[in-house]
Amino acid sequence: MASFGHFSDDGREFLITDVRTPSPWINYLQNGRYFATISANGGGISYDRSPLHGRITRYRINDVPPDRPGKYIYVKDRDSGDVWSLTWQPVGHEPASDYRAAHGFGYTRVEAGVGGIASSVVFFVPADDDREIWKATLRNASGRPRRLTVVGYVEFALGHALVDLINQCDDQHFNRVHFDKDLGALFATKTYWVTETRGTQHQENKEWDRWAFFTVNRPVAAYETVRERFIGPFRSESRPAGLEKGLSSKDMDCGNAVGALQVDLELGAGESADVIFSLGVIAKPEFERKKAAVVGTYRDAAAVDAALARVAAEWDRFLGHTRAATPDPEADVFLNSWIAYQAKVAFDVGRVASFYYWGIGRGYGYRDTAQDTVAVVIADAARARARVGLLARQMRRDGQVYHHFYGDGQGEFTGHCDDPLWFILAVTEYLKETGDLALLDAREPFLDAGEGTILDHLLAVARFAGADPGPHGLPKFGRGDWNDTLDYIGGRDGGESVWGAMFYVAMLNRLLELLEVLQAPEKVPDIRALRDRLVTAIETHAWDGEWYVRAFGEAGRKIGTKTNRYGQIFINTQSWAVIAGLPDRDRLAAAMGSLSARLDTPYGPKICAPAFREIDPTIGLITRCVWGKKENGAVFCHPAAWVIQAWCLLGSGEAAFETFKKLLPGRIDQTTFSAEPYVYSQYITSDEHETAGKASHSWQTGTAAWMYRVAYDHILGLRPSYAGLVIDPVIPSSWPGFKAERVFRGARYLVEVGNPEGVTSGVASIDVDGRPIDGNVIAPRPAGTVCRVSVKMGRTA
Ligand code: GLC
Repeated sequence: MASFGHFSDDGREFLITDVRTPSPWINYLQNGRYFATISANGGGISYDRSPLHGRITRYRINDVPPDRPGKYIYVKDRDSGDVWSLTWQPVGHEPASDYRAAHGFGYTRVEAGVGGIASSVVFFVPADDDREIWKATLRNASGRPRRLTVVGYVEFALGHALVDLINQCDDQHFNRVHFDKDLGALFATKTYWVTETRGTQHQENKEWDRWAFFTVNRPVAAYETVRERFIGPFRSESRPAGLEKGLSSKDMDCGNAVGALQVDLELGAGESADVIFSLGVIAKPEFERKKAAVVGTYRDAAAVDAALARVAAEWDRFLGHTRAATPDPEADVFLNSWIAYQAKVAFDVGRVASFYYWGIGRGYGYRDTAQDTVAVVIADAARARARVGLLARQMRRDGQVYHHFYGDGQGEFTGHCDDPLWFILAVTEYLKETGDLALLDAREPFLDAGEGTILDHLLAVARFAGADPGPHGLPKFGRGDWNDTLDYIGGRDGGESVWGAMFYVAMLNRLLELLEVLQAPEKVPDIRALRDRLVTAIETHAWDGEWYVRAFGEAGRKIGTKTNRYGQIFINTQSWAVIAGLPDRDRLAAAMGSLSARLDTPYGPKICAPAFREIDPTIGLITRCVWGKKENGAVFCHPAAWVIQAWCLLGSGEAAFETFKKLLPGRIDQTTFSAEPYVYSQYITSDEHETAGKASHSWQTGTAAWMYRVAYDHILGLRPSYAGLVIDPVIPSSWPGFKAERVFRGARYLVEVGNPEGVTSGVASIDVDGRPIDGNVIAPRPAGTVCRVSVKMGRTA
């Protein structure tokens, strides 16, 4: 089994020991405003705020190798002429085993030893400064004096990333890059800028509103601004002509804009030097006033190290809100940091930029954004609250929401039946976590007319849910539901989503629970009646004998039923039957049993089976997709989290943890898996395809948010509620117990769970700070306090 890397002993870094990874294994450097992706080989993009409008550096889509260009530091030995880069690519100096990379929380470090020069370069984005820093340290370990040239290089995009791609022939006439001798910095901008979201070539009468800067902490010996001059004809970043014939040190007013800065070093034997590059943007109105200060900071190693320490401290704060020590050390590495880290990155990035999503097309998904929020609320309630406001602003008075939105008033209504209901999830999780019911009175505009409180928005969603049921009393499918690829089930008569009905029930249950807390009884009867009608409709029409069908297509045709050739059973209508709390326990047990029997694989449960092998235009995209991949029968990791939740709700601790373990990244041979083994991918190819086990669409998936919450809320069983912290673990019977920590409403709960009878669920007693409590809900403790909780699991009366 090939191995390209593994976690460090403390689990805080993923160490890449062989940089020839099967796909770009990346990390995110970001502070929620300034973003950079970086692969173990230095590939990746940079953008300010928006990957579409604020693109700083370019990504060449579908290029080979797949992660070019990037953040490259070249080194040339001025005596031997040997050239290498501090990351293995782009030069690809052999042997590759001279290189190692480490991805940590908010930083990536690449170390190398080439030709007697030991190097380490750390890439990060400061927590409190919107730029990226590449701090390189070169040490002469060769035992003789060395004369080295070091060149930092970026390829600029400057503005609208999609227009940069589709209008390149003209765009290059609007780039300006100049070197400021006094400041030792390159400044780059574009003299026109498109602010529309679509890839229009409509030229607006304006320029990009930022200046990009690229600077280095040492005297600049030479520079380059034009890609054609730096790379040269018939070459690539691997062998730039500029390193052979020298850089032109000329400004640019036409061409592909790049920044290359050269510094010359002379290192005696054993000597080392720091070369610190810094890339970022300055808003145009502030440019003259700020530029000297901006390029003047982070010029010495101490300032850079202090900024890096602040990044570490911020991640410690974030990740320190939850901790686990279970009998399973492999799971602990993920539970203690990597799942929450990925979830926070997905929340900050908004799911739009990776090596799978290029930040040029889709905006922010409504349901994705709502789901990302539930992971972050534990440690960053204020940011979750702001996200709730953003979601509210994408809603019309009738409760319809944009399916995709861009945050600037632009968006698209598609008619997916599930989108608006996700708002209920985001709001109620925020409220349970924080107890901040005042959120409900906050006012936000509706897209079409006027404004309303957050509670008004919730009630608009409830009205939407009841507005237009189909012939079986289930929600009309429309353009799709959570599964975007069931996009033509709706047909001419609308079709109906059984999962949609279950989801509505689950969300309406949340709303009813909230209204009870608010003691707002006048609103309850209608919503309860709607919920009950949906439950009756599901139980009357959607039970197939062994599982719940997925949908009714045009003219009532059943989808996800035994008699279908393909797609006989779908995952979501089994797990959500449980999550929705449908009343018939026998059916729930049978549905989950069928899920196990028909969908389970060594990699986790499949999204549906058998996969479609014939195109069915009355179902949609799922049937056009190759079988075993994506929604067409892959192990789609996001809904697998709901399976774990469902097993927990049924008290099946073995099945829940077994599924959780199977899904952990890094359990499959790394060559086969291909994607990063330290984060979840959107899907793992199933046994219906010859590339079974291959994962794709890593990082930007709702899997992380859900796995984080399901693991802490339902397996470890530390769950927020309006009344306090619920203690309700559901674990394998072989666990003698576990320890966990969780911050809840500002107090830290140190929880020790014992399982002397080897049960999977059930709490026999709870002591809080040495005193027994009744029931399993701990009333909130004062913020700032530490609370010791001792839990004994066991058979309850
Ligand atoms: C992708 C989308 C998500 C959708 C899922 C299933 O992950 O981002 O919104 O629910 O696919 O189609």
